[in-house]
Amino acid sequence: MGYINNSKFYPLLAIESSCDETAAAVLDQGRCISNIVASQIPKHRPYGGVVPEIASREHMKAIVPVVKEALFKAGLTVNEIKSLAVTQGPGLVGSLVVGFNFAKALSFSLDIPCVGVDHVHGHILSIFLEEVASPFPYIALVVSGGHTSLYLVKDFLDIKLLGKTRDDAAGEAFDKGAKILGLSYPGGPQISRLAEKGDPKAFKLPRAWLPDTPLEFSFSGLKTAFLHLVRGLGEKSKVVLEDLCASFEQAICDVLVEKTIKAALEFKCKNIIICGGVAANKRLRRLMQEKACKKDIKVYLPRIEFCTDNAAMIGICGLHLLEYGKRLKIDEDVYSTSHGTKAFKVLEGE
Ligand code: KG4
Ligand code: ZN
Repeated sequence: MGYINNSKFYPLLAIESSCDETAAAVLDQGRCISNIVASQIPKHRPYGGVVPEIASREHMKAIVPVVKEALFKAGLTVNEIKSLAVTQGPGLVGSLVVGFNFAKALSFSLDIPCVGVDHVHGHILSIFLEEVASPFPYIALVVSGGHTSLYLVKDFLDIKLLGKTRDDAAGEAFDKGAKILGLSYPGGPQISRLAEKGDPKAFKLPRAWLPDTPLEFSFSGLKTAFLHLVRGLGEKSKVVLEDLCASFEQAICDVLVEKTIKAALEFKCKNIIICGGVAANKRLRRLMQEKACKKDIKVYLPRIEFCTDNAAMIGICGLHLLEYGKRLKIDEDVYSTSHGTKAFKVLEGE
């Protein structure tokens, strides 16, 4: 239902370059007809995290080939594109400007409309890349390397922030936990894989419930407790690696699940969606479904390729913004944080 049939903006080319993935997608007549993602992870792995300058340079190399491939897979030439959607923020400035200026230049040379999209807004609407009946109103849990927030979503462009993390994002916590264990970047998938064979009750780790602000998150205490635990274990930590991963993963998932269900009950939402890179986590997906089912709440999970960063989600969001009348002005800039000038002021409360 998220795709608008017979839109004059089809075929729409979407571009995303906010962090360490260069992505392009084409949406046409109610379908995503190509979705290309070039990941830079191997380039950043030796440094244990994303190096902004390397990211920017890699986007420079990848942007033309990625857009060309997306057009090729869609069976279109660039002259057949009728509109553009591009991530405007938040993200790394040196990365954002590559996709943003590319889209601006294309819009100018082809004389077609272009719209700036908020990356988080894209994640929140990523469920519409799947076949879904109207899920409104729903609670969106955005969990990625840079964000951990809960939103009340009443419509495509009617979204309210309910709470976010005070410190680390959940993905960041996974990555830092992995670093403590000596695992390579990005840590989330590694912890997740090792945790499958471990005992989640083996080690006691703290959960920040924050009773005064129950829809906010905090993971820095968990990270510190985990650091002390692993240091205390010394060489033995290698022997109990799987149990450590399972206990750490369970501590993060418990908090994410509990608070999301609390938000759904408080705002009388029958639907929850989990989006962002950490939504690929199997334990999180399973736990959320188990707990929500008991409260008669349905959980929507975009397929993994739509959970991690992609341009298709930017396209679906851009399509709704274009239909609404939003256009990118030629002198507009990108923004790095969610406190910056928003692509469109829908994520109320940020
Ligand atoms: O949304 P995303 O691709 O990029 C950002 O916008 O941040 O999310 C990347 C984050 C990384 O922190 C990565 O460790 C985490 O998502 N991640 C996972 C899993 N797959 C990716 N965390 C836990 N379990 C996973 N299976
Ligand atoms: Zn993301």
